[in-house]
Amino acid sequence: MKIFLDTANVDEIKNASEANLIDGITTNPSLMAKEIKRTGLDSNLILKKITKLVSGPISAEVVSKDLDGMVKEAKKLKEIAPQIVIKIPMTFDGMKAVRRLKKEEIDTNVTLVFSANQALLAAKAGATYVSPFVGRLDDIGNDGMNLVGEILTIFENYNFKTEVIVASVRHPKHVKESALMGAHIATIPYKILNKLFNHCLTDQGIVRFDNDWKDAHK
Ligand code: G3P
Repeated sequence: MKIFLDTANVDEIKNASEANLIDGITTNPSLMAKEIKRTGLDSNLILKKITKLVSGPISAEVVSKDLDGMVKEAKKLKEIAPQIVIKIPMTFDGMKAVRRLKKEEIDTNVTLVFSANQALLAAKAGATYVSPFVGRLDDIGNDGMNLVGEILTIFENYNFKTEVIVASVRHPKHVKESALMGAHIATIPYKILNKLFNHCLTDQGIVRFDNDWKDAHK
């Protein structure tokens, strides 16, 4: 399973990419706004910096709601770097934009997906990726990972090439379940990435090895 980092924070991306574990990046207007406030840089410059750190796909979201606006914005974003993927919300106009961009060989990531039918429509429109938001579904008492399973089954049934990005990841269990289900990608916040490294027995083991080593060299 590929791991994307769900952040626009350039420092986090720099740190994570040093271990070569990050296959791509996803951003959204909220994450971008946070980074604009933190750095004082504009969003294009932030994206440019990210493209220098990660060679894989980098999702940048349009903020226009109408078809022509989305397509125009997408083309501008695409000028920043070839690995930019255009993130488009799941709306009727959004799917028309996906279709138009596909004709121009521009990759898209359909975001704010909360049902299997939405994912089916996105795949039929020609989306490169769909992003089911598992955490936000869990938050309202639904089962986010169940939706991921449904989408994977539908895509397999009809041999869609669209890849599933498990998004709105809240904890390591979401990551493990994504991998067990065979999701193509999980996009995870930096703090969750850090949690994946941790195990209390690893920490205890390091202390014990250290103590034994010191004891023998007194
Ligand atoms: O990038 C989209 C998604 O991962 C947002 O997650 O935590 O705002 O629900 P969250």
